[in-house]
Amino acid sequence: PILKEAAVPLIRWYREHKRDLPWRHDISAYRVWVSEIMLQQTRVEAVKPYYDRFLSKLPTVKDLAEVEEDQLLKLWEGLGYYNRVRNMQKAAQQIMVDFHGKFPETYEEILSLTGIGSYTAGAISSFAYGLPKPAVDGNVLRVVSRLLASEEDIMKASVRADIEKALEEVIPADAPGDFNQGLIELGAIVCVPNGEPKCEECPAAQLCQARAKGMETKLPVKAKA
Ligand code: ADE
Repeated sequence: PILKEAAVPLIRWYREHKRDLPWRHDISAYRVWVSEIMLQQTRVEAVKPYYDRFLSKLPTVKDLAEVEEDQLLKLWEGLGYYNRVRNMQKAAQQIMVDFHGKFPETYEEILSLTGIGSYTAGAISSFAYGLPKPAVDGNVLRVVSRLLASEEDIMKASVRADIEKALEEVIPADAPGDFNQGLIELGAIVCVPNGEPKCEECPAAQLCQARAKGMETKLPVKAKA
């Protein structure tokens, strides 16, 4: 029950150490969505100014649904991967038509929107609505692989699905958002990918099977390029 045992220390650590980031204030589904799409291929520091500008120009789903494409692309200029923002506009239009302009509040409905996969749907569901859904990105795959000393290839969809399922079974009902953000934050600032993970700072170091086996720098296994 390593993941279950890690939950309480992880949440406590997150609440004490979390970075003060713009999308961690005034949380709403729309704000979480915009931040998570931007963060998919872009570093936190680079996202910050884009995030603030995007939300000041397009503060609501309706604004995003209705903005002219050239204006929209200008707000995204420099972030790259422009299909991300084109898909966001399509999803905003779906929300206007199919959900009467109100951001959907169930995981399945959120997942049905264009450009939203299980990670983003889980992030919105748990951060904005407190639903006990996992949000498994690259950070979380790495952290969980290390905690369990799993040598499975994290590039495999089946391995991601197994990790999502394992997390769904232990996610604390009273703090799903802090649990998920704790995993993401731990992967971003402590259980880092290359070089030296900072195990002295990790709230779950005593539970970590990779560390127990001296394998923390060998994991996760990432076979496919
Ligand atoms: N990377 C992806 N999602 C993030 C979040 N919510 N906070 C910080 N970094 C992230």
